[in-house]
Amino acid sequence: MFGLQKATQLTSADDETATLRWLAEQYPYPDRPASPPCLPRPYLRVNMVSSIDGAVTHNGRSGDLAGPGDKAIFRVLRALADVVLVGARTAVVEGYRQPSPDDVFTAARADREQTPAPALALVSRSLSIPTDYPPLSCRETAILTCCDAPDSRRRALSDAGATVIDCGDDTVDISAVLDVCAERGWVRVLSEGGPSLLGSFIAADAVDELCVTTSPNVAAGTAERIAHHPATAQLRAMRPTTIITDDDGFVYTRWTRTTVGR
Ligand SMILES: NC(=O)c1ccc[n+]([C@@H]2O[C@H](COP(=O)([O-])OP(=O)(O)OC[C@H]3O[C@@H](n4cnc5c(N)ncnc54)[C@H](OP(=O)(O)O)[C@@H]3O)[C@@H](O)[C@H]2O)c1
Repeated sequence: MFGLQKATQLTSADDETATLRWLAEQYPYPDRPASPPCLPRPYLRVNMVSSIDGAVTHNGRSGDLAGPGDKAIFRVLRALADVVLVGARTAVVEGYRQPSPDDVFTAARADREQTPAPALALVSRSLSIPTDYPPLSCRETAILTCCDAPDSRRRALSDAGATVIDCGDDTVDISAVLDVCAERGWVRVLSEGGPSLLGSFIAADAVDELCVTTSPNVAAGTAERIAHHPATAQLRAMRPTTIITDDDGFVYTRWTRTTVGR
């Protein structure tokens, strides 16, 4: 009943580049099929941070929960991904920009035939993203929405240079989102939330891996959990694959699904 799964302790005295590369080895994506008979199914990894008592934000943002180790993992997971998929609200609240190439991982990405940096894809039904939001004008940024999104907003974002893609009719359909990822060659998908989007992923049974940083703080207050969704909750089993701790008391857990996904 009680298996002993040891946590690996990272120390801040370690060489930064070596630590980043070591972390990358702890978070491998599954191998990409060499000659797929059809488009490969993307692997969906989600990375979130929470307080010990489950708060997903402090003062309205996740930044106050993070520490240097969490930032290192955030950096490494981006360096491994083909695309960063994020809810539009999170992207705007947290001031997301187009991910930039990371010198530490340039060679590794080239070996994996990946672009120098992951693309950015925002999920939004309302398309209420400000037209001066900088990543919109980047060709690699995709806005994943649905056919019923307001025409005026669609036009406004397209005029601002955005690539707007429909994934579903009256709502953004998670299966269709992953199909679009596959069509674009984004098989290593990293989602950075937020909680509504993660809730939709869980409801669609689309999460292959959930990386959770536990910040060594309790928060109480009224902050949300890392996932929520209006549909009746269902338990989806996952198992811990990797557990890492650091000198600051953060715990980094990588959970993978125990069943085959959608
Ligand atoms: N602790 C962490 O790790 C972490 C990570 C990320 C974010 N956060 C925090 O979470 C907060 C934002 O979270 P949130 O839950 O409000 O927003 P969210 O999950 O980032 O965004 C939901 C967004 O996705 C869009 N959406 C469209 N279709 C959807 C679908 N089928 N399912 C789910 N979302 C869909 C919504 O678009 P429209 O409204 O445009 O229709 C909305 O903009 C911020 O305070 C942020 O700082 C924390």
